[in-house]
Amino acid sequence: MTSSTILERDLRSPDAATTQRIGAALARAARNGDRLCLWGELGAGKTQLAKGFAAGLGVTATVNSPTFVLMAEYMGRLPLFHVDLYRLADGVDAVDGGLLDERQALGVTLIEWPERLAAALPAERLDVLIAGSGDEPRTIQLRATSPGHAHYLGAVG
Ligand SMILES: Nc1ncnc2c1ncn2[C@@H]1O[C@H](COP(=O)(O)OP(=O)(O)OP(=O)(O)O)[C@@H](O)[C@H]1O
Ligand SMILES: [Mg+2]
Repeated sequence: MTSSTILERDLRSPDAATTQRIGAALARAARNGDRLCLWGELGAGKTQLAKGFAAGLGVTATVNSPTFVLMAEYMGRLPLFHVDLYRLADGVDAVDGGLLDERQALGVTLIEWPERLAAALPAERLDVLIAGSGDEPRTIQLRATSPGHAHYLGAVG
């Protein structure tokens, strides 16, 4: 990494369709083994971004929040693992239960409610921080925690 490597980017999204388009643009940069953590309060737009990301990967199945399972898998250009930890009390359980498993190296993983992972949060990831709720425009900050995830920052037009 050089000091000129861009590791952060701030975006604005006035509506859900724009958030989906940002997700789709990110998906075009996806590589096997990447992890994207989607941060934001209830209703911020994490699943909207995930839907667009899946579409950008060429997933044709409908992506919703996995209500009864913590992880849903989809097949697109790469396998997509969509993890939603909202109902998880303890991140250690997720790891012990195999939620962060070695198969994810063969695809790209989106994690909603990554704060539930606590100390088990993957160190190398792209953070997508969505702020705002209701009908407010959102700010969406992209933050690569490793040079290996910096390629996403140039992927959004
Ligand atoms: N700019 C925007 N980006 C994303 N969603 C928006 C925007 N403006 C309004 N919305 C609306 O906000 C809601 C976001 O819902 P979504 O399920 O994506 O949130 P979430 O962050 O996944 O919530 P949860 O924590 O419950 O999983 C949708 O109803 C969407 O239409
Ligand atoms: Mg959601």
